[in-house]
Amino acid sequence: MDNKELIFLAFEAMEKAYAPYSGYKVGAALLTENGKVYTGCNIENAAYGPTNCAERTAFFKAVSEGERHFTAIAVVGGKDGKPHDYFYPCGVCRQVMAEFCGKDFEIITAVSQDDYVSVTLESLLPYGFGPDKLG
Ligand code: THU
Repeated sequence: MDNKELIFLAFEAMEKAYAPYSGYKVGAALLTENGKVYTGCNIENAAYGPTNCAERTAFFKAVSEGERHFTAIAVVGGKDGKPHDYFYPCGVCRQVMAEFCGKDFEIITAVSQDDYVSVTLESLLPYGFGPDKLG
């Protein structure tokens, strides 16, 4: 599974986004250490607060299937499902990533399969609070 393939799966997942309030559709494709991919989309709610981001949808699907080890996630998103620029996962999703992933976990943010940037979790969540602190 290379970056291009993972981005392709994130685009496919974005098609499933339920975003009637913001119109901002997001897709994510999460790669496990053993090469399996779990996808997710954002799921909004009329009460706004229960809205779930695409990244967390992918993580919660994977973890609920028994996965614990991840190497990368590709994210794509844009108003009406048309990505125009890179975006980086929200703070809540970064914290969820920090629960299961190490500093080198890769976040690939893309506008197309050929136009993407890859950053580490550590760069997006420096000095993060993680499970190691609880002993
Ligand atoms: N959203 C995500 O799915 N992931 C992020 O990292 C940022 C925001 C969603 C939540 C909401 O449905 C919409 O984008 C606008 O905030």
